[in-house]
Amino acid sequence: MTAPIRFLAGITTTGTPHLGNYVGAIRPSVQASRDPGAQNFYFLADYHALIKCDEPARIQRSTLEIAACWLAAGLDPEQVFFYRQSDIPEITELTWLLTCVTGKGLLNRAHAYKASVDKNTAAGNDHDADVTAGLFMYPVLMGADILLFNGRKIPVGRDQIQHIEMARDMAQSFNHLYGEHFVLPEAFVSDSVAMLPGLDGRKMSKSYDNVIALFAPPEQMRRQIAGIVTDSRAPGEPKPVEGSALFQIYEAFATPEETRQMRKAYADGIAWGDAKQLLFERIDREIAPLRGRHDALIGDPAQLEQILRAGADKARAIATPFMARLRHAVGLRNLGAPSGSSVKQKSAKAALPSFKQYREADGLHYFKLIDAAGRLLAQSKGFQSPQEAGQTISQLKQGGLGGMPDALQPGPGVAPAELESAMAALAAAWMAC
Ligand code: TRP
Repeated sequence: MTAPIRFLAGITTTGTPHLGNYVGAIRPSVQASRDPGAQNFYFLADYHALIKCDEPARIQRSTLEIAACWLAAGLDPEQVFFYRQSDIPEITELTWLLTCVTGKGLLNRAHAYKASVDKNTAAGNDHDADVTAGLFMYPVLMGADILLFNGRKIPVGRDQIQHIEMARDMAQSFNHLYGEHFVLPEAFVSDSVAMLPGLDGRKMSKSYDNVIALFAPPEQMRRQIAGIVTDSRAPGEPKPVEGSALFQIYEAFATPEETRQMRKAYADGIAWGDAKQLLFERIDREIAPLRGRHDALIGDPAQLEQILRAGADKARAIATPFMARLRHAVGLRNLGAPSGSSVKQKSAKAALPSFKQYREADGLHYFKLIDAAGRLLAQSKGFQSPQEAGQTISQLKQGGLGGMPDALQPGPGVAPAELESAMAALAAAWMAC
């Protein structure tokens, strides 16, 4: 079986989602998340938000709004991994391990940091004035986000490509020092991703203050659309579609046939007011059904909190055993456990434990975990069908014992810690394939 490709993306929780986020990121990601050949990780990057925002209420509100938007847009938390970064303590733990294999010079060259330094230098200030260590370390935190889950393809905008390359460098340094633990991530930049213009015709972006909120009440959305810049051509005068922000936004929501009709309406001299009304109706047709779900979620934060916590449990079923393996790899070890020499480390793969499935006289199906030398490490309970037993085995292989602490009883003389590390090794091998 080939493992599905892992996609992983973070969304910084500092703003309220707007139409540009929807068209550029949310809608295509939700569509991609339905591809059965991929495994998708989406998370709310709230530690990243702290780098640029020191308003606690805004961070909380933005996390709520962004979570509600993604779910309202159709992201299915059962199908994907959807979690909040700060619910995964392994991310900060890994950040430190990566910090220790990352050259300071590499971070000096990061665009976001360099831009601040350049600004300070130009203003005649100390070059690090107002630069927090958080901004400086940002690429390492992002590296940990990615590497903890061995994300392979990272859908990002062009401004983020450098960060993915840095994560790759960190993975390589770590693998070189401690053995093959990380797959090397790649930036996944889709050129077909739509860039939506904003009210003033420039890219729709919070920093230009030209956005149309995604889930504003319909009347507010209508007013915002009325504010899109147009030229002074009168009703009846033919209008060019090139350079028309209104037309481009329409196209992002319309079918090819609807777009063709709008193009014709422009040529026929549609009045700007009428074109704006058509745009409002077209967007509303797509957004209205989502708005109900969105408003219900915003109105029930406890439910959202529960969804995010369940997502964190699911993500930690992978993260916890993997982090145990990484801690072991760098030498943060149980002092009572046999110390793995580098020789043992190199042969770790060959010495992997394995599952054996069998049927007992009681008619039930069982499996056991045996180490490379044939010693019984653990024993399952009985299952009604071989399929059930098989499914449990694959869950254990992928997620370790984390999600199912009662699935296995340690064999005679096997310490729980030993069983845990055997499971961590299996999960890691599964992740690496
Ligand atoms: N820094 C990214 C942004 O500003 C968000 C992000 C944080 C991210 N961690 C990530 C994206 C990991 C991809 C993978 O857009």
